[in-house]
Parts: sequence; C-alpha cells; structure tokens
Amino acid sequence: MTTTVWVNGSVRDEEAATVPALDHGLMVGDGVFETCAVRRGEAFALSRHLRRLRRSADILGLTCPDESVLRGAVAETLRVAGPLPLGRLRITLTGGAGPLGSERGPAGPGLVVAVAPGTPWPERIAVVSVPWTRNERSAVAGAKTTSYAENVVALARARSQGAHEALLGNTRGELCEGTGSNVVLVLDGRLVTPPLSSGCLAGITRELLLEWAADDGFPISEETVPAEALSRAEDVLLTSSTRDVQHVSTVDGRQLPVTEPGRRAAELFALRSAGDLDP
Ligand SMILES: Cc1ncc(COP(=O)(O)O)c(C=O)c1O
Repeated sequence: MTTTVWVNGSVRDEEAATVPALDHGLMVGDGVFETCAVRRGEAFALSRHLRRLRRSADILGLTCPDESVLRGAVAETLRVAGPLPLGRLRITLTGGAGPLGSERGPAGPGLVVAVAPGTPWPERIAVVSVPWTRNERSAVAGAKTTSYAENVVALARARSQGAHEALLGNTRGELCEGTGSNVVLVLDGRLVTPPLSSGCLAGITRELLLEWAADDGFPISEETVPAEALSRAEDVLLTSSTRDVQHVSTVDGRQLPVTEPGRRAAELFALRSAGDLDP
C-alpha cells in the first residue's frame, strides 16, 4: 500500500509527488507539520491539529493557508487514499522555494498532505534516556517544526539499544518528552506529566488525556519532574497521535509494571477517543 500525497493542489502517489528542490523546508528545515491518526477513514482530532499548525506557523512567521483550504486538502487526500481503518495523515507547511541560506524567499508557503496506512504499535515498548537536551528557551520552543534531525539521532540511539523511543531532558535537567511523544509518569501513586514550560510539545494526546482525566475525577498533575525521577517512576506512559496512551515496558533496562493509575489512563483515553472523532 502506498502513501497518497496532495501537493499544492493535486493528489498523486508517493513516487509521482514532488516539491521544488530549493524549498526552504528541505534546505534549512523551515517548516511546520502535524501528524494525525486516521481512524475509520477520518483524521482524528483534526480541529485541534489545525489550531496547533497555525500556532506553529505563527511562531515561525509562516503564512498558514485558510482553514477551509487545509480541510479541503485533507478531505481530498483521505478520499483518494480510500477508506483506511487505521492510518496516519501528515500536514506539512514549508517556507516554499527560497534562497540557499536561512533567509526565507518571496515565494508563498508550500503545502503537502500525505496519508499512509498505519500499523498498530505494540501495547508496551522499551524506552531509553539519551544524553542530549531539549532547549526550553529555543526561538521555536513549542512549535512542531520540520527540523527533526535531533529526534532522528536520538531515536537511532534508542533503536541501537533495542528500544523504540528515546526520552530527553531539558537544559535545566528536567524531564521533557520523547522524540515523538509526551511522557506521563506514575510517582508515589500519582500521574504526573512535565509542564509545557519544560519545552515539550503541547501534544494533542496529552492535552486530551489531561482534560478527560480531570473530567473523570483523577487529575494528572502538570509538574516539573527532575530527569532522574525516571529511575524511580513506578510506571511510565507515552502519549502521541499514532500511539494514543502507550505503556512502557522498560526504562533504561529497568522492568516496569502496569500500575492501576497507568491502566486507568490508557483505558480512559481508549474509551473517550472511540466516542468522538474530533474531540
Ligand atoms: C516532539 C514531540 N512531542 C510530543 C508529540 C506528541 O504530540 P501529539 O499527541 O500531538 O501527537 C509529538 C508527536 O509527534 C512529537 O513529535
């Protein structure tokens, strides 16, 4: 099965879809993106993803197309991809064709929407911590930019150690997030997640879980967590659009049980997300 790609107005399969060779997104990572889960042929939580895309674009000073254009491109790509029971949809907005340096050119932004079939994640995965840091004071902190080279390196380190995700701290020695996920710990029986001030992405899955857990009467606390707390966490969960709420089996080789608060969080997310495709 192939990836279906919408580029600036036309839908093609992945071999035929192209972007300008000098696109500033390709040249210097000048772009922002969103990844949504596709469930029953629809993009899950699309409204929240479109809002975050616009916030990320604003941080970079990129012009974000109107919501109707984005929704039209998403709908058309999903239509051509056909009814996918499970998939992932990516919306990428780039600086467009530009000069070779960091200054952006006059061309308007480039828009790419891609839909691919998905494969379910294992229920539990191994994670490792890596020595590199997120910069919570970065000019683009909080934006979901296409500059993911740090994540590529960190994830490759995790894979070389037999793990499926790498967890990073920030420059203050606090726990921050994974390469493509937010993290929730069980500490002293309580569910805790690093605050956005740690420099982590404002994950949509994290945001929904925080809201639903509060509704359900077991709030998850947004608290600064020292990076070394990982070594004493009773349970660790990852959240992301493609994994939902996923249990971690080992952290740095230490086996973890599934605790009651962790199980409850994962079950609550599964239940609430099944009932509404655009919460
Ligand atoms: C760096 C990073 N943090 C967190 C997340 C989780 O965000 P979301 O739940 O919106 O997918 C992602 C998602 O890919 C990510 O790339």
